[in-house]
Amino acid sequence: MKEKLEVIKAAAMEAISSAIDEKGIEELRVKYLGKKGELTAILKQMGSLSPEERPKMGQLVNEAKSVVEEAIGNKADQLKAKATELKLKAETIDITMPPKVNKVGKLHPLNTVLNDMIDIFQSMGFDVLDGPEVETDHYNFECLNVPADHPARDMQDTFYLGENLLLRTQTSAAQIRTMETRKPPIRVICPGRVFRADEVDATHSPVFHQIEGLVVDKGVTMCDLKGVLEQFAHEIYGKDTNVKFRPSFFPFTEPSVEVDVTCSECGGKGCRVCKGSGWIEILGAGMVHPNVLRSCGIDPEEYSGFAFGIGLDRLTTTRYKISDIRHLFENDKRFLEQF
Ligand code: DAH
Repeated sequence: MKEKLEVIKAAAMEAISSAIDEKGIEELRVKYLGKKGELTAILKQMGSLSPEERPKMGQLVNEAKSVVEEAIGNKADQLKAKATELKLKAETIDITMPPKVNKVGKLHPLNTVLNDMIDIFQSMGFDVLDGPEVETDHYNFECLNVPADHPARDMQDTFYLGENLLLRTQTSAAQIRTMETRKPPIRVICPGRVFRADEVDATHSPVFHQIEGLVVDKGVTMCDLKGVLEQFAHEIYGKDTNVKFRPSFFPFTEPSVEVDVTCSECGGKGCRVCKGSGWIEILGAGMVHPNVLRSCGIDPEEYSGFAFGIGLDRLTTTRYKISDIRHLFENDKRFLEQF
């Protein structure tokens, strides 16, 4: 039994010293010291020994157990330290590596300008509404005092989606939708995309953006229109900008005006951008035509109002001195990253 103990002990020590990981060492602990382990088994065989031999053998077995236990403990500590060292090594941070840059998106210049415009009008008490991009002929033209045979239709050729459905050519349809659902006093702006079948060039795109505005209340006059739009122009272009109201024509307003501001490129001297005039046209406006009010169930004897349509793209290209409107829609990152 003594020899057997020596053999087991020697095999255990050998196995412990060549264990390569913590899992292996744990298996050895079970194999030798566990309940059914080899050294435990020897203790169980002691019954066959004589009473004098039993305590001696017991002592030997216990000594062997504690030697093996200690060896297992030491080896386990060693392996653990080694594993930690390897792990730390693998995790070393190489501070000379170029960093991973998180690409944060930013606002498109059109949205930056739109947000500024919304701020300006909200501070004057306007609500912001949305309207559909696919419109009916009824809302886009008929209700705006542009019947089927009206020559004004020629200037706003668009994309038809069927007999009566079309991509809206102007945000003005939002005026009608607003007056159908809200009662005066009304103060709203409706920004959005509009579409026209125009030839594409540096100043024309089949998709562009407008911001429609509508005010309807008792006693609204041309003075209110001028005050609001002048205030708007000064906030966008600065106090020194001159604002000019020119008589114009729109079927849905009477009287109608177009509004020009001092060319921000040349300060009014005349340049390529303003085609030598010193002025840039930024919007159309006017007093809402009585027919339009009537078609929305509002009595023009009791209420009056003004409306305007601002070109967002023009405002954006002049603010950032962008020479070609097409840049706004081409999604070229080299262009967009500049803002
Ligand atoms: N819808 C017009 C256009 O696209 C712009 C416009 C002019 C809108 C006068 C208005 C307005 O609301 O009153 O050319």
